[in-house]
Amino acid sequence: MSEPVPHGRDQMMIRLERISKRYPGQSADAVAELNLDVKQGEIVVLVGPSGCGKTTTLRMINRLVQPSQGRIYLDGEDVTQIDATRLRRRIGYVIQQVGLFPHMTVGRNVGLIPKILGQDGQQIAERVDELLALVGLNPDQYRERYPRELSGGQQQRVGVARALAADPPVMLMDEPFGAIDPITRERLQDEFLSLQQRIGKTIVFVTHDIQEAIKLGDRIAIFGPDSTIAQYDTPERILAHPADDFVRSFVGAGAAVRSLGLLHLRDLPLPACERVEDRRTISEDATLYDALDAMLQAGVDELAVAGAGDAPPRLLRWADAIRARERAATGSERAATGSARSGEAP
Ligand SMILES: Nc1ncnc2c1ncn2[C@@H]1O[C@H](COP(=O)(O)OP(=O)(O)OP(=O)(O)O)[C@@H](O)[C@H]1O
Ligand SMILES: [Mg+2]
Repeated sequence: MSEPVPHGRDQMMIRLERISKRYPGQSADAVAELNLDVKQGEIVVLVGPSGCGKTTTLRMINRLVQPSQGRIYLDGEDVTQIDATRLRRRIGYVIQQVGLFPHMTVGRNVGLIPKILGQDGQQIAERVDELLALVGLNPDQYRERYPRELSGGQQQRVGVARALAADPPVMLMDEPFGAIDPITRERLQDEFLSLQQRIGKTIVFVTHDIQEAIKLGDRIAIFGPDSTIAQYDTPERILAHPADDFVRSFVGAGAAVRSLGLLHLRDLPLPACERVEDRRTISEDATLYDALDAMLQAGVDELAVAGAGDAPPRLLRWADAIRARERAATGSERAATGSARSGEAP
């Protein structure tokens, strides 16, 4: 994934070029001259206050909303004018209120698009089971249920499975975890990230919640109140270098502490650890946030970091942890995940 791509353009999955939308009868643009590039395999999160144009932007990508101006490119192709139905087969869409058909079973909801695409019954049944398993729902248990017989979080997963049914390279997700309690939401976010590790889709994800944006996004576009993008950057750099007062207030207090949660111990250059048996140990899957929390709780300033498999343990000292965060805040590369996409943010 870190191989350089010969033509930068080929790597760009979605490009919005000076896209605007003015709804009929309105005196102002809902979205104004917006530019946005999304790389292949990247999760881009659109975040901003209510009414700032996030859903409108998302729906212009699959042309559920027709742009008033500007151009849309998908995988290098100008799709501004192409047949919208054909376009939508290449784009999965999870809408703001899940939108499962209440009179259809879970299985039929998920199999809807393959059926429209003319796949045969056996093929569809296999695909439905595969997708339900993928989103963590046992097919035998859930296939024949109706949406009202599921919890909110389970309905969200069915919505995600349905959007994945045609195996589109691009997924648009509008507040898919919006109506879910914080604990379940956190679990769904973790599942979403591990699912994305396996499927590697290009995803545009809308949320109100800056915490969710920081956790999920490879890059975040923060919409300002005037329906333009106030900052488009990695979570690290938005936390460390907010572009203006609006972004600063939107990100809120505690930015430095929150950025600790983006750094995983496995990605830090750390020295070997002697006398492991004398020290508290932490897994290298933990974040710098977890590590500093563990140090404070135990009243120590050093931890042994257990490596994966046979890898020898390494040593994390408090001062090194502080320096690692500083480096990340000034650096350009996202260090949050080992599999992070390569390439420079603008
Ligand atoms: N069909 C429509 N006709 C007229 N105005 C609309 C229409 N849909 C949306 N708008 C307006 O366009 C602006 C952007 O709406 P949009 O739904 O894109 O916001 P949003 O950022 O998704 O908000 P939320 O966070 O509340 O979902 C709003 O001012 C809204 O009132
Ligand atoms: Mg919306």
